[in-house]
Amino acid sequence: MDFTITCEHAKMEDKKNIFSSLSEHQIETFQKYCTEETYHAGEVVFYEGSVGDTAYIILMGGVEIWKDYDTPEQGLLAVFNSGQMFGEIAVLDDQARSATVVAREVVKLLSINRDDFYRVIKENNTISMSIMKSMSGMVRDRTDNFAEDLKARNRQLEISHRQLELEIEERKNAESALIDSKEKLRILSSHLLKAQEVERIRLSKELHDDLGQSLALLKHLVRSIEKKSNLEQSFNHEAHDHCIDYVDGIIENVRRISRDLRPSILEDLGFSAAFRSLTENFSRQYSIQISVNIIDVDDLFSMDTQTNLYRIFQDVMTNIGKHAQAGCVTFSIEKEDDKCIFVIEDDGKGFELKDTRNRKNPVKGIGLNTIEERANMLDASLVIDSITGKGTKIVLEVPY
Ligand SMILES: Nc1ncnc2c1ncn2[C@@H]1O[C@H](COP(=O)(O)OP(=O)(O)OP(=O)(O)O)[C@@H](O)[C@H]1O
Ligand SMILES: [Mg+2]
Repeated sequence: MDFTITCEHAKMEDKKNIFSSLSEHQIETFQKYCTEETYHAGEVVFYEGSVGDTAYIILMGGVEIWKDYDTPEQGLLAVFNSGQMFGEIAVLDDQARSATVVAREVVKLLSINRDDFYRVIKENNTISMSIMKSMSGMVRDRTDNFAEDLKARNRQLEISHRQLELEIEERKNAESALIDSKEKLRILSSHLLKAQEVERIRLSKELHDDLGQSLALLKHLVRSIEKKSNLEQSFNHEAHDHCIDYVDGIIENVRRISRDLRPSILEDLGFSAAFRSLTENFSRQYSIQISVNIIDVDDLFSMDTQTNLYRIFQDVMTNIGKHAQAGCVTFSIEKEDDKCIFVIEDDGKGFELKDTRNRKNPVKGIGLNTIEERANMLDASLVIDSITGKGTKIVLEVPY
């Protein structure tokens, strides 16, 4: 304890340190009431939240003042160096420490507890006045620093706030552009699907009327050739019959293609009859056992909606026939409050829906996309539930 405070210590760093208003003699007197302590780098002088009655004056080295020390949210409030005082509030009240103080390096501190502090003030009026002057200067300094710091933080906050506002605005713009382009895409695909339907009707009509008629005429011509040639012995009847069969085959194919393009049953008898015919053809074509439990829903929907529904189930059935390897398929249509529930379930091999969505080639496999698009056009909810090895269930709920 042979450390002596000199005026040099008092003048160090901060002109408003605790000794700034004290004479050399007063400092020496003050020192007699204090104890000297040494802390090493990283050592804690006191913890936030602890209760103490001691104030400290830094003689040598520096300390860090931490908030929430030892927690992930810790923040360094300040660094104090020689001549500065900390923990002084503890000599005035019994409140818990408001921060943790940690030695930055080897620090020498003078500590004075509450009783000794009161004693030095009581016994030395002039020291008391000088200390009060120094302390009020220190408090003013810290308040100024705090206010300055607060202003700087406010400025920073304002800048961050503005940046955030700009980012939010940019994001909002991008979002509305995305919604806009999604909406445009939706309108475009709905137009495309409608145009496709019109084109199918035209093709179907042309195939049925023009090509169908031409083929019927061709058959008639071939027949008349037979009649004329009956007189000629060399006429090959077998080749002739073969030719007629061949033309009949072509006529049947043209009819089928025309019917697939636009089944007249849909226009003539409506969705329910067309749907039944679709399931029967499906069962025949793929030799799959079917169970049908459907009600008549034609009165509930416009012709456009019926066409969309028909196309959806045409695609669903084609998928089952092409991919599912199913043994049995169940079809059901039920009415519930203000919606119709269509369910198609197969017991085939199932598939991973996310794999089909992540396909690299967007042109291949547009069936499911078109089904979703058509469901959107109907404001319907579509749930595709597929389990590998167990089968696929498709539920379409259409409001009416
Ligand atoms: N019922 C089903 N059972 C098993 N797999 C299915 C079934 N439905 C669809 N899939 C799988 O989902 C994939 C995507 O179907 P999607 O209808 O979109 O395309 P696609 O049938 O391959 O081609 P496209 O319909 O364009 O001719 C199919 O390739 C198939 O692997
Ligand atoms: Mg498909």
